[in-house]
Parts: sequence; C-alpha cells; structure tokens
Amino acid sequence: MLRAGGTLLYTTLLHWRHLQTRIKIYYGKGGDQSMLSTIPTRLESVKKEDLDKEILRAGIIAELDAINLYEQMAAVAKNNDIKKILRDIAKEEKTHVGEFLTLLLGKDGEQGVELEKGKEEIEELIGK
Ligand SMILES: [Fe+2]
Repeated sequence: MLRAGGTLLYTTLLHWRHLQTRIKIYYGKGGDQSMLSTIPTRLESVKKEDLDKEILRAGIIAELDAINLYEQMAAVAKNNDIKKILRDIAKEEKTHVGEFLTLLLGKDGEQGVELEKGKEEIEELIGK
C-alpha cells in the first residue's frame, strides 16, 4: 500500500476506535452496536475487488463522525483557544472526507454517477 494510503488507513482506524467508543457511551456498556459496519470486517465475506471500496466508505463514515464530534465539543468548550483548535481540527477532518471520497470515486464508477444524479435531483427539487 502507498505510504499516504497507509497514513489514511491508520487515521481512519483511530477515528473508528473513537466512533466505537461513542457508540458504547450512547448505548451503554455492552449495548447494541449493530447499527454500524465493523472494522476490520470479516475479510473472508468481502470480494477481493470490493475490499478497498469498503475501507474507503468506512473511512468516510469515521471522518464524518469525527467532524460532528469536534464541532460538538467546540460548541460546548468554555475556553476560546480550545474552541478554535477544535474547529480547526473539524475542518481538517473535512479534508480527510475529501481524500477518501476522491479515492472512492476513482474505484467506484457507479458512486460517481449516483453522486451526479443526486446533485441533479437536488437542483430540480430546490432549483439551485
Ligand atoms: Fe481524520
């Protein structure tokens, strides 16, 4: 794997750990965690050609959740320096979403087509 990809995967796994922790907090210890896919997934059940796409989608999920976490913490932090740093980190997480999405669009042509369809449907419905 490329060095940049390795860094991305490592970052994603860190985010995933924090996401799993948030779920445990939300549902209580030993609570239901079935609402989310798991990382690492059961590798034997994933087609080899789909594995990278699944990793990239999981990365996007983890980064989006990280954005929410940092923005929520920024909203409740009392210290302005902490608020500023948390907002900056949330912004960096948005870059990570873009990195994963860019890679996913390169591997999943159907996703690119459906993304465009989604934009068109919004333009039709909202007129923007
Ligand atoms: Fe991130």
